Amino acid sequence: MNLGDSTMTKKITIAVDGFSSCGKSTMSKELAKRLGYVYVDTGAMYRGVTLYCLRNNLISDNIVNEQALSKEIDNISIAFGIAENGAQYLMLNGENVEKEIRDMEVSSKVSLVAAVPIVREAMVDLQRKMGESKGIVMDGRDIGTTVFPNAELKIFVTASSQIRAQRRLDEMRSKGNKQVSFEEILQNVEERDRIDQTRAVSPLRKADDAIVLDNSNMSIDEQNQWLMNEVNKKL
Ligand code: DC
Repeated sequence: MNLGDSTMTKKITIAVDGFSSCGKSTMSKELAKRLGYVYVDTGAMYRGVTLYCLRNNLISDNIVNEQALSKEIDNISIAFGIAENGAQYLMLNGENVEKEIRDMEVSSKVSLVAAVPIVREAMVDLQRKMGESKGIVMDGRDIGTTVFPNAELKIFVTASSQIRAQRRLDEMRSKGNKQVSFEEILQNVEERDRIDQTRAVSPLRKADDAIVLDNSNMSIDEQNQWLMNEVNKKL
């Protein structure tokens, strides 16, 4: 059976979870493109809520004002737009905030906001709606464990924290950010790993039926090939 036939006859749900800066979004985007599936970057959604919190002074001294946030959660609209070049961007209450949500300020607070139960509840609801008709590649931390526990294919991606920090540094440098240092990024990556793995609600954890992909020493091409191989086993 070739891929063209199989994608027409069967659509599956693909959950891609793992540590931050593992290249999950790059690989998920590429996979969705090859399969003609929808791609959803759930990290961007939590980043959007974080930007809202920062703009509305709902975080102080690394504490999220959960009471105030719970009153405002229904006023926070998170959606994706598609640019002319096909790139996806995040919209917060109708505004394109794709650039702002990648800033260090948002990156350093997002784990705090993502740990708030009411935020997770709202985002998980939204994510389930987005994946209702299958044919989706969704990346995040709890997709295989909480959002889509019945996903046909679950990938858990990992790589060493040093390699992940270097990748993020390269990405930021390529976008013209010269200020941030390797040490700063490494610290941010490791701190986020810690918070993501130890939070009470939906901590980052490999689903029992997920396949591990350690891409520390893999090229993008090798990785794409590995993924397509796993997908083809399920179609
Ligand atoms: O993938 P990312 O680095 O853009 O994710 C940003 C943060 O959001 C990260 O600290 C973990 C959190 N997150 C989460 O808790 N659950 C998800 N499904 C996706 C991201």
